[in-house]
Amino acid sequence: MPTLLELLKDGRFHSGQALGEALGVSRSAIWKQLQLLEAELGLVIHKVRGRGYQLASPIMLLSAKEILGYSSDLGWDIRIHDSIDSTNAEALRFIERGGSAPALVVAERQTAGRGRRGRKWVSPFAENIYYSLVLRVEGGMRQLEGLSLVVGLAAMHTLRECGVPGAGLKWPNDVLVGQKKIAGILLELVGDPADVCHVVLGVGINVNMQRSEEVGQEWTSVRLQSGKVVDRNRLIARLNEVLAMYLARHRSEGFSVIQDEWEKNHLWQGCAVSLIAGVSKVDGVVLGIDRQGALRLSVDGAERVYSGGELSLRLRADS
Ligand code: BTN
Repeated sequence: MPTLLELLKDGRFHSGQALGEALGVSRSAIWKQLQLLEAELGLVIHKVRGRGYQLASPIMLLSAKEILGYSSDLGWDIRIHDSIDSTNAEALRFIERGGSAPALVVAERQTAGRGRRGRKWVSPFAENIYYSLVLRVEGGMRQLEGLSLVVGLAAMHTLRECGVPGAGLKWPNDVLVGQKKIAGILLELVGDPADVCHVVLGVGINVNMQRSEEVGQEWTSVRLQSGKVVDRNRLIARLNEVLAMYLARHRSEGFSVIQDEWEKNHLWQGCAVSLIAGVSKVDGVVLGIDRQGALRLSVDGAERVYSGGELSLRLRADS
């Protein structure tokens, strides 16, 4: 049976009676569900006497069938949620419940989307991609080296193919267009990283979002860059394929074979930067990354290497 949202997504008028019949519930139950959609998902629904109910603008919903229709079947279990706290949190619960990997958790919106360094990831309904891939990793530390950078590279290539030719990387795993962030990556790990563990590859991509008062940094979206509304199912399908290809390469050959390609796409290669770790700050010039994906900086003429999830880079005014 379809959901109320699926019936309304075309942006046309639907009478309360027709909706009730399609869902096998009363007109007053439809009314209550409409109120919930407005309150919980922030949707605007026109209610016109004699005509019925209409979404203020049509929406394209996520669909496992459509995602699979656009790509080869990778054998990943795809789980779609209308609303969830965080796809990464849900992926971690999936692992705890003993779910088998690879599995993909995606959502129309997140109420507590997580960013790096304890930040919030703004996640409005049906506009962007909130994507968490669960992997089982057996090969010890080597299989984790540079993994988050590899995910960033896959997201960057997907974006370039899908209307954002100017997408590039910022260490460790942001995807930017110029100075504006278009995608972010958050890896979370459970188990023993030296032996068998599960890793959640969380990817957030700004797709059709055109305005947001909430994002606390410069940002852009695929739609703002390409001027077109983007089919998120198609974008997810392509991300799945590109990511699967990079993960296979990383698994069989290690990060060192991807290091060079990553550096070539690093927007801040050779730039003067400040590296921020909590309250401390180091000024240097970006030399590149090492075989594990750590950042190599020239600091006062000497090479120093930095790694860790809590670090972040800022361009210096003199760069
Ligand atoms: C960053 O701060 O750059 C990382 C952002 C990662 C956001 C994605 S959206 C899907 C997944 N679920 C989350 O809660 N976070 C990641």
